[in-house]
Amino acid sequence: MEFDRKIKIAPSILSADFANFSQEIQCVEAEGADWIHVDVMDGHFVPNLTFGPPLCAAIRPHIKTVMDVHLMISPVDQYIDAFAEAGADILTAHLEAGPHVHRTLQAIRGAGCKAGLALNPGTGIEDLDYLLDMVDLICVMTVNPGFGGQKFIHSQVEKVRKLRAMIGDRPIHIEIDGGITPETAPLMTAAGADVLVAGSAVFKGGSVDNPAPYGENIRAIRAAAATA
Ligand code: DX5
Ligand code: ZN
Repeated sequence: MEFDRKIKIAPSILSADFANFSQEIQCVEAEGADWIHVDVMDGHFVPNLTFGPPLCAAIRPHIKTVMDVHLMISPVDQYIDAFAEAGADILTAHLEAGPHVHRTLQAIRGAGCKAGLALNPGTGIEDLDYLLDMVDLICVMTVNPGFGGQKFIHSQVEKVRKLRAMIGDRPIHIEIDGGITPETAPLMTAAGADVLVAGSAVFKGGSVDNPAPYGENIRAIRAAAATA
């Protein structure tokens, strides 16, 4: 994975047809997705349950782009190797998931993945000083994690602006996740985000039998983001 700050759209398969992940992935990639975002939830760190390493391994061969795995789980460390073996390119853990985030990031890179760090909407960026050289991506949650289709939290625009300044020239992606639409995307790209996760706004109106709306939705977000 080469680093660049071009805008990337990462559809979240949380909004896909769960009975049909392989085709859903093929469709959104054919319609212009840059990365595939995989939301792992444990029913403990967040009040919802999704899937684990075997599902990630099963869908991996169908992903031609980048497998971006968002771990909304606590504890997290004991599962890192399993998700790495399942083929994650990027493994993102939450800053709030435990007391030893430095160790978690070391373990992710040690397992051969790019290391991501996610921040809940209520978490500030003050604690990142000593972590910046250990991360390849920072994910700013623009909703409280756990569910697709929630409303964008505007206070996170300022957080992204501050974070962008803090990152400077370091090769760190700023990803935003939650409530991203053609209306909210440009606020975030103007503030400095380069990876836009979108679930409901990508998958709405389409299906594997009618994937054209996926392309329209992705292009609408990309075009809006580019106006920033
Ligand atoms: C929320 C997940 C998101 C979610 C985004 O907990 O991390 O990735 O699927 O969904 P939308 O785009 O519908 O807000
Ligand atoms: Zn996510």
